[in-house]
Amino acid sequence: MKDRPAFVGFYESNNISPVSQDISDLKRHFQRRESLFRSLGLVPTFVRGIKVLEFGPGSGHNALYTASLLPEQYELVDGNLKGAQETRERLTSFTTSQTKVHHALFDAFQTHTRFDLIWAEGCLPHQNQPLLLLEHVASFAVRGGVLCITTINGISYLSETLRRLFRDRFFHTRGDVHAQAHQLATYLQPHLKNLHGMSRPVEDWILDNIVQPLQDRRLLSIPEVINCLNDKYDMYGSSPRFLTDWRWYKDMTGDNLRFNELALDSYYQNNLNLLDYRFEFSKHTVAFGQKLEDFGSQSWDLMCKIEHGEELAWQDFFTLMQGLCAHIEKLAPVTAEAIREAVILLQSGKPDMKLKQFPYWWGRGQQYVSLIRKSD
Ligand SMILES: C[S@@+](CC[C@H](N)C(=O)[O-])C[C@H]1O[C@@H](n2cnc3c(N)ncnc32)[C@H](O)[C@@H]1O
Repeated sequence: MKDRPAFVGFYESNNISPVSQDISDLKRHFQRRESLFRSLGLVPTFVRGIKVLEFGPGSGHNALYTASLLPEQYELVDGNLKGAQETRERLTSFTTSQTKVHHALFDAFQTHTRFDLIWAEGCLPHQNQPLLLLEHVASFAVRGGVLCITTINGISYLSETLRRLFRDRFFHTRGDVHAQAHQLATYLQPHLKNLHGMSRPVEDWILDNIVQPLQDRRLLSIPEVINCLNDKYDMYGSSPRFLTDWRWYKDMTGDNLRFNELALDSYYQNNLNLLDYRFEFSKHTVAFGQKLEDFGSQSWDLMCKIEHGEELAWQDFFTLMQGLCAHIEKLAPVTAEAIREAVILLQSGKPDMKLKQFPYWWGRGQQYVSLIRKSD
């Protein structure tokens, strides 16, 4: 699996596309998508008549909304044949816009067309080399165009990381993936019930986040995105929103408008919010945020080592969690309690241990950011 493309290798070898959304109430689904667009600074009606390129539409559930906004041209790229076919079928009713679904790997996709809006949702984090793919994906926007992508970091994903480690500790990771997901659902479904707003089937979520081998994959954080694209793109919006900029627009002229610098500052003053979706924490210092980011990155690296069979990494992980809990104790005591309980569960050897805190704790797993292309 190591040499197979991320996601695509796992999906194709199991003939799955575990990316469906509950769209039985289409109005509600579209409202969710509209809220996302607004949060990213995109006015839905402005999509009419523009050129849109989407990477990794999965089976096209979210693409349905974008297509409904009637872009002049809408091209989509997905490397999973099942997903590409399902996306094509789902979009057949949108004959007014020029819609084309390409079955291709991201890095192999090329076109001379330049697009006003590039969309890459849920498909750059968890790649082997997300920054290389990010640069490739970002290369297709016109100057002044918008790039929207999702990010995940070790803090926002810590609640998942601990649930993956639960799987590593107590379950076999071989054999039929559906059987694995089914077995895990007994334990994780009650946790997922506490995640308000969840619109994915439980088994899809477990396949994608817990069963999928990720030990050779990387996350992709907001600071990594900003630093990687700094010369070509300016940070524009995000969901959840955390950017503040009190400058007077009349003072904002010249070559260096410092959008990225200010975005990084806002980010590091607020990233504790990524750790627990139940709370809205006040601003903290940049130094606190940078240290937290470091805890998050280390937790992902140690999980990868554990999943590579390095038994000694377990103790390093437990020590790291102790340090993290001490770091956040004052500002986020309830979250620290949930993390401690998860660690006790992993140390206890008893998967059925009664839990009071851990099942309720989820991070703000995936974030969205929008950036505006400033140069070629
Ligand atoms: C987790 S799904 C996300 C689906 C959808 N965008 C969403 O957010 O619900 C990732 C999608 O990206 C596609 N994908 C991931 N990496 C890819 C790659 N390197 N080349 C082509 N497709 C890829 C997968 O096949 C899958 O359909």
